[in-house]
Amino acid sequence: MKILGIESSCDETGVAIVDTTKGLLSHALHSQIAMHQAYGGVVPELASRDHIRRVIPLIHSALTEAKLSLNDIDAVAYTAGPGLAGALLVGSSVAQAFAWSHQLPAIPIHHLEGHLLSPMLADPVPEFPFVALLVSGGHTQIMLVKKVGDYELLGETLDDAAGEAFDKTAKLLGLPYPGGPHLAKLALKGDASVYELPRPMKHSADLDFSFSGLKTAVLTTLRKLEAQGEVTEQDKANLAASVQEAIVDVLGFKAIKAIKQTGSKRLVVAGGVGANLQLREFLQQQIHKLGGTVYFPPLHLCTDNGAMIAHAASARIKAGLVNLSEKKYDTSIQPRWELI
Ligand code: KG4
Ligand code: ZN
Repeated sequence: MKILGIESSCDETGVAIVDTTKGLLSHALHSQIAMHQAYGGVVPELASRDHIRRVIPLIHSALTEAKLSLNDIDAVAYTAGPGLAGALLVGSSVAQAFAWSHQLPAIPIHHLEGHLLSPMLADPVPEFPFVALLVSGGHTQIMLVKKVGDYELLGETLDDAAGEAFDKTAKLLGLPYPGGPHLAKLALKGDASVYELPRPMKHSADLDFSFSGLKTAVLTTLRKLEAQGEVTEQDKANLAASVQEAIVDVLGFKAIKAIKQTGSKRLVVAGGVGANLQLREFLQQQIHKLGGTVYFPPLHLCTDNGAMIAHAASARIKAGLVNLSEKKYDTSIQPRWELI
């Protein structure tokens, strides 16, 4: 069965085709980062308009790459939430209209479930159950994934998400949007031992996080440096290295705690921050020491994409969670939507 997947929840238009037996056949992506950069963040109205412009050509690209035509598609999956309302509506309208016109099943997918299951697009595929560290721009959660559709929340951020902490501190350092990858690049030139930044909630008894104090600490450090004279590129690089180390330290510590607590030997890391190389290295080393394995999505599928949406639909179909005979067409979306 061939599934066309559409992602349009934020600033990436992603389209992909997944075969329920053969896996990922093709994927096409357009990132709006360059367009939003001038504004220092995502402008929702511009995002929606750009999704409209890109989605149909991307569907054609994905079909061409997979050497398929629209008539070969058996089901259409799309991100129904959470995300920006206008942006989500583009994906849901296109998916539902196409599904209706070809009388195919239309499958709404939770964006975070897409991220959560995306490490299954890599090789080797993690077996259930596993602990998942879900670290995107808007979410930071630790979950116990028992099987597809059966998730238990073990801990989450009480304020900013890890990606948000990267983005907000990067902005303070004058880096372009989205800050995470830029801050990680600058950190390579820095020395993390120069500034001691806080690790909020690292030693709390639970598996929750708090990252909002980090931006205040960075702001205070910058103010102090400004009061002493000019803030040099080296100062910024040192601060970037400290920020990255603080975030990786807390994420890693709690992820390992969850592994020990659950007795699971498998950790899956998903979401945009999963592209962070320091986080990857740290977790790989630490989990290996415990005799476990850590799984990541392929690097290019860490941030938003259509492959994870088509794949989540495929996984849900295989788990018997989708009623394929239901031909109900409804473009409603859920901008706010808890996975569990
Ligand atoms: O999962 P994602 O693409 O979008 C959401 O669903 O939110 O995650 C985007 C987040 C942004 O905060 C971005 O700065 C962060 O992932 N990110 C990174 C890296 N690449 C992306 N953060 C740290 N290091 C990276 N290399
Ligand atoms: Zn995402």
